[in-house]
Amino acid sequence: MFSFFKKKKSSANVPGNLPFTTDIHSHILPGIDDGSTDVETSLQLIQGLYNLGIRKSIATPHIIGDMYRNSPQTIATALEKTKIACSNAGINMELSAAAEYMLDDYFLELLQKNEPLLTLHKNILLTEISYTSTPENLPEITSGIIEKGYLPILAHPERYHYFQQNFDEYYKLKEMGFVLQINLLSVTGYYGKRAAKAAMFIVEKNLAPLVGTDLHHHNHLAAIRNEKNRAIFESYIGNKVFNDLDSLVITL
Ligand SMILES: [Fe+2]
Repeated sequence: MFSFFKKKKSSANVPGNLPFTTDIHSHILPGIDDGSTDVETSLQLIQGLYNLGIRKSIATPHIIGDMYRNSPQTIATALEKTKIACSNAGINMELSAAAEYMLDDYFLELLQKNEPLLTLHKNILLTEISYTSTPENLPEITSGIIEKGYLPILAHPERYHYFQQNFDEYYKLKEMGFVLQINLLSVTGYYGKRAAKAAMFIVEKNLAPLVGTDLHHHNHLAAIRNEKNRAIFESYIGNKVFNDLDSLVITL
């Protein structure tokens, strides 16, 4: 009798899965940006995502001209190392890699030289912009990306303080041609109240068809696993469809 009740209590405490199975934004490849530092950490982060119901993970290491000058080669090497480690550890995650491109001078150089860029899926390109100030020529940069045949995704628009003052900016970003991707943890207040308010606005107005974990380290994983936060994910984004990359390609 005692063991029956004990068992029931423990199963009631098992939290449910995340409201999506494909993660399109993370820094889980080892040693090439400010995310996972080594293969062991990568394995722990990937196992953590798997335990939350993620079955497909697209790793997106930073490419920032003056900080992380990653290339298709450095990313492919880190991906291969991680895939082998996952296979040896019996983690059945479908792993691939793209990149998160900072829209800086180095990016413009790559674009102008027609260097092949790493995409999430087909022509879908994950980008970010400076946290300190908005690039003055953002509409021109966006047009340039689209002219080269890419569909630009803007990562975590809710986190840029200069957009948090005026939510009309999110509509302007969409008019420029960006598809918006919010960070899962933003709705919990992990990145501050202003980012939470902006993320909730973006979700309520259906402005972002994409959500990513932007997982860098164990603290992020712990926050994502937190039961209170999981309840917030469920109530804000649980009933919406996210991360259908094929549907974005068709709407181009
Ligand atoms: Fe990121």
